[in-house]
Amino acid sequence: MFDLVTMRSSLAEAYDLAPNPDLAAEMAEIYARMDRVVSPVDWAIHAPYVAAINSLKAKRNAVILAHNYMTPDIYHGVADFVGDSLQLAIEATKTDADVIVQCGVHFMAETSKILSPEKTVLMPDMDAGCSLAESITAAGIAEMRAKYPGAPVVSYVNTTAEVKAASDICCTSSNAAQIVAAMDSKTVIMTPDQYLAQNVAREVPQKNVVWWEGSCIVHEQYTAEDINSFREWHPDTRIIAHPECPPSVVDASDFSGSTSGIIDYVTREKPKHAMLVTECSMASNIADALPEVEFVGPCNMCPYMKKITLEKVLWSLHTLNPEVVVEEEVAVKARLAVQRMIDLSRQLGI
Ligand code: 13P
Ligand code: SF4
Repeated sequence: MFDLVTMRSSLAEAYDLAPNPDLAAEMAEIYARMDRVVSPVDWAIHAPYVAAINSLKAKRNAVILAHNYMTPDIYHGVADFVGDSLQLAIEATKTDADVIVQCGVHFMAETSKILSPEKTVLMPDMDAGCSLAESITAAGIAEMRAKYPGAPVVSYVNTTAEVKAASDICCTSSNAAQIVAAMDSKTVIMTPDQYLAQNVAREVPQKNVVWWEGSCIVHEQYTAEDINSFREWHPDTRIIAHPECPPSVVDASDFSGSTSGIIDYVTREKPKHAMLVTECSMASNIADALPEVEFVGPCNMCPYMKKITLEKVLWSLHTLNPEVVVEEEVAVKARLAVQRMIDLSRQLGI
């Protein structure tokens, strides 16, 4: 839990963080990446934090890996690398920085630590969890193995290190169907996202996919009725859903893919109007690069992702805390499951 008062007074002593329109003007090049969605007043507030973080990053030999759901000030202002879960995991294996600051949720930071045990991995807010990761423990994996003897366990990266360690291989939303298809067994256990599993099951009818009953609190809220009535209301809108949505929502949409798959699709297709059936920051982060696309329709906010702020990123770089720790015995086993996913994805050309 954060002591916000202590954090703010310590930061104010060390850095000049008052809103600064002159500094904001000097940093116009960075602002140009988000000026469609961030007001000039907000930019004058963010600019001192962005400047302080970027200079501290160089001093600490740190790299910031940010998920596509981060707010535009983080995504465009301080991130060295942005991407979906798979891309962030791969980047964690490649960086030669001493410190990784994970702007995303806890399981992403754990994945980075598992893959780079020698690095300091910082998580700006340890309470940035995930409803999927919280839905299953290693005991749940054992339960599934007892129910389906001999079936391999494919766990979504949205899981704790203990769950990864108890699994055969990991997957993300960008490689799940290919990984399940590559398993040497008719029955494949997928955990913990029931909807991702049901969407994958339809893509790989040759497999008997069975699943755990977890769900994402952001994507489970969308319904096919909402999508269909939105389409009636705005018939020329391209509707694009994340595969953590229920299959009926994916069916009602024009395309489904991982967060980076969604960005690639909109960048390639450039529809006049697009509705991203996913977390709110996605549309904001790509709005400036795609001025010809109007982003419309409802979105849902991930309360966990939104715990990461510029202020907390600065504090974590300033204090080199909070640091993510994964017990060695767990990390060794979890690394096998994550590395198998990365190796298989490379082999399959994903
Ligand atoms: P991606 O792997 O598609 O980025 O998804 C991660 C996530 O948490 C989506 O809710
Ligand atoms: Fe977890 Fe859903 Fe938030 Fe992604 S959007 S981190 S799956 S709760």
